Amino acid sequence: MTTDLSPLYPQLPENALIVLIGASGAGKTTLARTWPAFQVLSLDTLRGWVSDDEGCQEASGDAVDALHLLVDRRMARRRNTVVDATNVTRDARAPLVAAAKRHNMPAIAVVLGTPEAVCLARQVPRPDNRTVPADTVRVQHQLMVHSHQSLRAEGFNEVHFAENLYRLEPFLRRLGEARDADLGLDGSNGLGDLLLVRRVFGPEILPLWQWKHRSGVAGGDRVAEIRLGQLHLTLALRRDVDGEGDYAFDVMVPCPFDPECRGYAWAPADNITSLHRALTGPLDNHEDVVCSVHGGFDDVDQEADEHDHDDDPEGRADLEAQHADAVRT
Ligand SMILES: Nc1ncnc2c1ncn2[C@@H]1O[C@H](COP(=O)(O)OP(=O)(O)OP(=O)(O)O)[C@@H](O)[C@H]1O
Ligand SMILES: [Mg+2]
Ligand SMILES: [Zn+2]
Repeated sequence: MTTDLSPLYPQLPENALIVLIGASGAGKTTLARTWPAFQVLSLDTLRGWVSDDEGCQEASGDAVDALHLLVDRRMARRRNTVVDATNVTRDARAPLVAAAKRHNMPAIAVVLGTPEAVCLARQVPRPDNRTVPADTVRVQHQLMVHSHQSLRAEGFNEVHFAENLYRLEPFLRRLGEARDADLGLDGSNGLGDLLLVRRVFGPEILPLWQWKHRSGVAGGDRVAEIRLGQLHLTLALRRDVDGEGDYAFDVMVPCPFDPECRGYAWAPADNITSLHRALTGPLDNHEDVVCSVHGGFDDVDQEADEHDHDDDPEGRADLEAQHADAVRT
């Protein structure tokens, strides 16, 4: 174990209690994300879990109770654990070190020595409930600086500066492995067609996504369904959109031209918001809705104009043929 200043890239034990120490804005949460999610106990997240508001200072006591319980249980299991909180006071750190000692786990302090001015500047773009007042940041920064010499005496087995840790490597390795698995490069099937779905609509929708085989509702294009309980949406994967080789999704909406229409009307679905709009109605009258029977708004306007001039029975015959086509597919 190191007694003096740590060498560059110290080797952390495989399983330890890692206590991050730094003012707000120092980069604790950013650093913590280089460990797998379950290993990180974030006081902000725990505040959110007890109160629905990560920034709710009044909920800190309850969040700290939950933190101590989780640290103890994880130490009992000898699981590597990272505590993401400012931890700038001895009072905040003592129960954490005690939990590690109780279970014979190494306690490691990681000090984030980010300059005060940087910590302050990083408050500016934050949402109101996550902005820490400048005076508080200054005090936290001072406490961090003063903490440093007493950490060994508090029982930490090792004390490191965050900037010396080699966390970029395991972070990139883990992200790379996840990406390879998505692409099927790890020997699995990968996400395949779902990669496009994820890019357009986000990863959360994937568990609900079902490709529909042998569905003719999209004129031969691939069809998928998103279903939860009684509610569902039907989607079509369009290829070669605008003749430019692009892929895009359409979502099925009621025909805006005739409530009795037996065709299939589609609106472009560019993102997850369009799916919500399709489900709740606002997308039904999107200017780009195209019905397999009626065509788009332009066609229908033109049609109305033509009917103003002469009552063209051929036009109608055309439409009827299309309608029959649509129903057959
Ligand atoms: N190594 C880094 N390189 C570039 N930017 C960084 C780095 N670390 C942190 N940041 C940026 O600083 C900002 C604040 O970092 P972070 O949220 O991790 O701070 P924190 O210590 O967790 O603060 P708090 O105690 O308020 O939760 C983030 O927007 C992040 O992008
Ligand atoms: Mg944070
Ligand atoms: Zn129609």
